[in-house]
Amino acid sequence: MRLPRSVETADADGKVVLVRADLNVPLEDGRVADDTRIRASLPTLRLLLDRGAKEVRVCSHLGRPKGPDERYAMDPVRRHLTGLFADDRLRVLENTRFDERETKNDPSLARELADGCDLYVNDAFGSAHRAHASTEGVARLLPAYAGLLLEEELRHLSRLLGEVERPFVLVSGGAKVEDKLGVLQNLGGRADTVLIGGKMAEQLRVENPLDFEVELPVDVVGAARFEEDAETRVCRVDDLPYAWLGLDIGPEARSRFAAAIAGARTIFWNGPMGVFEWPPFAAGTKAVAEAVAANEQAFSIVGGADSVRALNELGLADRISWVSTGGGASLELLEGKELPGVAAIPSAVEPSRA
Ligand code: 3PG
Ligand code: MG
Repeated sequence: MRLPRSVETADADGKVVLVRADLNVPLEDGRVADDTRIRASLPTLRLLLDRGAKEVRVCSHLGRPKGPDERYAMDPVRRHLTGLFADDRLRVLENTRFDERETKNDPSLARELADGCDLYVNDAFGSAHRAHASTEGVARLLPAYAGLLLEEELRHLSRLLGEVERPFVLVSGGAKVEDKLGVLQNLGGRADTVLIGGKMAEQLRVENPLDFEVELPVDVVGAARFEEDAETRVCRVDDLPYAWLGLDIGPEARSRFAAAIAGARTIFWNGPMGVFEWPPFAAGTKAVAEAVAANEQAFSIVGGADSVRALNELGLADRISWVSTGGGASLELLEGKELPGVAAIPSAVEPSRA
């Protein structure tokens, strides 16, 4: 894997530095529900300030707003970040996706972001699969470096790119089905067993474009409505009443998934098995988290903001080999692609021209 040049080689003294972090954290009732991504951004911010940066401007997206939208304002994230680490030279900019030019990678927004800055540091591993103005465009306008988190993520995840110890079990779930199907299509062949839960499983039952075998949950926790206190019923998938929703994997699926995970030597898990934020639908995600944590023989990576939140809530994060801040980004990296946010940063060592 090509390594991007490190922020450790940047001369930040007296400079204004733009840092793209991935502070896209889960929110609940206007508060940060899991601060893993915020904490993970701190080492790079500290490094730059310790090295004498005049100002560090941190930017990130939060959620998927279609324009300015109060529900996705950066305030809670800013408060949380500055509560963990206060420095007068640190500024947290507003949600980059409040500007529709962000996701279009519009050069005019990249220029506005770069304006007044001397250096750019991309530490947003979780967003490195997006070619957006703040992750890709701006890297072409300023001297660009990889942040410490981005580097560490690449180091750990690259272990899954070469030969891995087998069986390699891939577990995928979560809500971003459209994003992940194509990635799974390219990735699935690398794993020995692919377990799918969550909304992704529901979708694959309707239409399955994958050309390899996947294990879908045989039973589900059905809900009459998409509500936390909806009437529920555990049933075989085929027995789910009309218009009911499968909001978690059922007990038999849990034990089958857990058994497959127990036999693995390499594990990659991304995306919860159900709506784990609601206790009636949390058992599937919990079962997978516990099975991954219990397997001490395997090299295990768990990625994605929600899966990581579940691990933290269960107190299991320290039993995973590497807890990644990237969900979709990790998956795309595993496909073997260079991520656009990484590709835009010059190499650690320039290739020889000979
Ligand atoms: C994530 O949570 O996966 C990243 O922050 C990227 O978010 P996105 O899928 O909305 O681009
Ligand atoms: Mg996510």
